[in-house]
Amino acid sequence: SARAEEARPGYHFAPARNWNNDPNGLVYYEGEYHLFYQYNPYGDRWGHMSWGHAVSRDLVTWQELPVAIPETDVQAFSGGVVVDWNNTSGFGKDGRPPLVALFTGHNTKTRIQSQYLAYSNDKGRTWTTHGKVLDIGSTEFRDPKIFWHEATKRWVMLTVIAAENRVLVWTSGDLKSWTMASSFGPTGARGKNWECPDIFELPIEGGKPGEKRWVLAISLGDSSVNGGSGMQYFVGDFDGQRFTLDPSWTGDPQWLDWGADYYAAVTYNDLPKSDPRKIAIGWANNWRYANLIPTYPNRGLMSLPRSLSLHKTSEGYRLYQAPVAEAEALRRDHSSAEGLKLGEASQPLPVKGGRAELVIDLDTGSSQQVEIAIKDAQGYQTLVGVTAPTGEVYVDRTRSGPSFHEGFPDRHIAPVDLKGRKVKLHLFVDESIIELYVNDGARTITDRFFRGGGELSWSVSARGGEATIETLNAWTLSDPRKK
Ligand code: FRU
Repeated sequence: SARAEEARPGYHFAPARNWNNDPNGLVYYEGEYHLFYQYNPYGDRWGHMSWGHAVSRDLVTWQELPVAIPETDVQAFSGGVVVDWNNTSGFGKDGRPPLVALFTGHNTKTRIQSQYLAYSNDKGRTWTTHGKVLDIGSTEFRDPKIFWHEATKRWVMLTVIAAENRVLVWTSGDLKSWTMASSFGPTGARGKNWECPDIFELPIEGGKPGEKRWVLAISLGDSSVNGGSGMQYFVGDFDGQRFTLDPSWTGDPQWLDWGADYYAAVTYNDLPKSDPRKIAIGWANNWRYANLIPTYPNRGLMSLPRSLSLHKTSEGYRLYQAPVAEAEALRRDHSSAEGLKLGEASQPLPVKGGRAELVIDLDTGSSQQVEIAIKDAQGYQTLVGVTAPTGEVYVDRTRSGPSFHEGFPDRHIAPVDLKGRKVKLHLFVDESIIELYVNDGARTITDRFFRGGGELSWSVSARGGEATIETLNAWTLSDPRKK
């Protein structure tokens, strides 16, 4: 339908057609960022899971490639990829390291899930499946995330036992034979499933020089903070075998994102030594309604790549997220303003169309609520707001397009530190997705939205008093698919 195509995002990656879910095997090799993903080559609903594949040289322009790992007697569920620099697996060729993938083979008949190995000697273009390497006879054993642990000089793999809300840690010298090292969970937020675990080390911003911690990120299939699927993280230590929670942990779940559409995010392996970042990509969807979202000819979408950092705050260690700086290359038509007084009368914002970035320093003043409205020609609207008295930022999509699932229309609230009434909003809109980064990424809200038709128009207003936009910077963003 023309309507669905109109709402198709431009600078967020999605395959040209059909269904996709989780990002898989994020790895950098020889100038290319690889993005593999759960893909159905035959339809626009979940099924026939295979690994789709795209590559990028700049994290914003993606080229879709043929299916990397097809469905065979097992479906190829989520997993990870590493560059096996020292050829520990023996799958290298002509002195060059192989890319090695560990993925879950889901046997459609028995429902047994076990871990499979595949490798590539041609920069991820074609893959040879070596076969099954780890089977514990479980139907809930999935989502291997693998990486090289420098201190112990071993490979580490995380998997889940999904229904038990457990993460298992495994180690290996050759990526083929794996020994179980420890188990973590259940704790924090629990639900039907824990999925897609990841673990990575980050320096502490605002900590002692050289201070670092490990972050364990886990996707929760249902029961998340703003409904359905979401992500939580734990901060602690990891010695190559076992993750231990930091003594500062209070037991309260820490949510990675406060919207409804950020799931299964994992980080890149093997970024160049000159790049100290941890970069994650998530699936911008929610299992509650993922199979029903009104998009065509594809269903599923990736988030912007995000750079992660860990901050020492009065409440404990907190994960912050920022859009990668590479996204600045999308900026066109800059406009700015200062000292913009806001009141009941809504004022137009200097952005046009469906692809925009806004950076706003807001003083909420005496107002009860400041609200940005993104409206279409049919009267549908998506709202981004700040409620000063309660210290909340929200995305309201209760009227974001024709209805298709009861779980979709909702208001997603994140608590924020208003620092004496002030808040910084960094907003990305791409036709039918919003990514909102609040106070330098201390909070994020990621939500799809839909519409009835026509151009989007942008305005802002304040209720219950006066507020001031201290500075506003706005850009229209280009669509890298149309270069
Ligand atoms: C997460 C997930 C994974 C699984 C994959 C199947 O969204 O359920 O646990 O490997 O999707 O497509």
